[in-house]
Amino acid sequence: MRLNDCHNFHDFRKLAQRRLPGPIFNYIDGAADDEATLRQNTASFERCDLVPNVLRGVETVDMSVTVMGQKLAMPLYCSPTALQRLFHHSGERAVAAAAAKYGTMFGVSSLGTVSLEELRKAHDTPQVYQFYFHRDRGLNRAMMQRAREAGVEVMMLTVDSITGGNRERDKRTGFSIPFRLTLGGMYQFAIKPMWGINYVTHERFKLPQLDQHVDMSGGAMSIGRYFTEMLDPSMNWDDVAEMVRLWNGQFCLKGIMSVADARRAVEIGCTGIVLSNHGGRQLDGSRAAFDQLAEIVDAVGDRIDVIMDGGIQRGTHVLKALSLGAKAVGVGRFYLYPLAAAGQPGVERALGLMRAEIERGMKLMGCTAIDQLSRENLRFR
Ligand code: LAC
Repeated sequence: MRLNDCHNFHDFRKLAQRRLPGPIFNYIDGAADDEATLRQNTASFERCDLVPNVLRGVETVDMSVTVMGQKLAMPLYCSPTALQRLFHHSGERAVAAAAAKYGTMFGVSSLGTVSLEELRKAHDTPQVYQFYFHRDRGLNRAMMQRAREAGVEVMMLTVDSITGGNRERDKRTGFSIPFRLTLGGMYQFAIKPMWGINYVTHERFKLPQLDQHVDMSGGAMSIGRYFTEMLDPSMNWDDVAEMVRLWNGQFCLKGIMSVADARRAVEIGCTGIVLSNHGGRQLDGSRAAFDQLAEIVDAVGDRIDVIMDGGIQRGTHVLKALSLGAKAVGVGRFYLYPLAAAGQPGVERALGLMRAEIERGMKLMGCTAIDQLSRENLRFR
C-alpha cells in the first residue's frame, strides 16, 4: 500500500499501522477505558442526515471561515497534538507546512517536538498554542510571554486533562516518554526497523516548549510525572480568568462540554471554546461533541466562537457540524495517521482530499458559502 492508494481516513490509518511500531501506533489510535467515547465521536455523525437543496448554481464554492479573528481558507484546522516527531521525523514541521499550504490554522502543543518560534517563523498561517496550567504561576506567565513574543495568534488552554485518562493500550505496551517498554512493546519496535533508523538518524527527540522550564532530559522527568507533579489540579475559573486578562487577545478553552461552563467561558472573556472530549482519550463515557453542539450554540453561539473536535473523518462530518452552528472544526488523528504514513506529503494529501470532499459536499448540498448551511439542512433520526 502506497500514499496514492490512500483515499480516506481508514486507508491512512492502515498505512500508519504498517509503518509505526505497535506502541506508538496504539498511543495515537487508542483512547480511555473501553474506548466507547472514541467510537461515539464518529458514530454521532451517522445518526444525523443531510437534507440537500438543488438547482442553486454552485459553480464556485467559498469554504473560508473566520474563527477567533483568523481567516481560514477551509473550515477545518489541525488541532495541537503531542509528540509528533515520534510519529514521523518531520513531525510538526510537516503538519505546519501542510496547514499553511491549505491556508488553515495549526496547533502547537506544550508537548510538541518542534519549537513554537521555529514554526511561527516558517509560516504565516494562524498558529494556536496549546498549553496547560502549572502549579508554578510564574511558569504559566513565562509560557504566555514566550508565546506572545513568538507572535502566536491564539492561546488554547486544555481544560479536560486535569488528570490523565486511563489508556489501557499504553499500559500494555509500556508506552511512556522516556520509553519504558514492556518486553512485548520492545518486540514491536524490533519488527519495525525503518522507524528506528529514522528515529536515530534525525535530530534528537526533545520537547522545546518545556525544556527551558522543566528538566525532561536523561529520563529525569517523564510525561506522566510532568502531569502529576507540574500541573495544578486545583485550577479553577478564577485562575483561568486571570490568564485570559493577562493574555488580552484570542483565548480559547479546549474541552468544554456543558452549557454552564460555556457560559462561564463567555463571562471570563474567552473568545472561543472547543467542544471536545480529547478524542475519547480522557473521560470515557463522555458525550460526543457533535451531540452536544446544538445546545451549546443555542446558549452562547452569539457571544463566543463555538468550535468542536472529535471523530471527524469526512467532509460531510464537517458540513454537519457547521450546519449545527460550529464556526470551524478541529482534527487530530485525521492528520496524525497521514503524518505517520508519509510525512508532509501524507498530511497534504489528507487535507487535499478533505478540501475536495467539503467542496463536493457543499455543491451537492446546493450551497456556495459556509453561512448558507443551517439546521434546515439537517434531520436527526
Ligand atoms: C494525549 C495528551 C498528551 O491525549 O494530549 O495523549
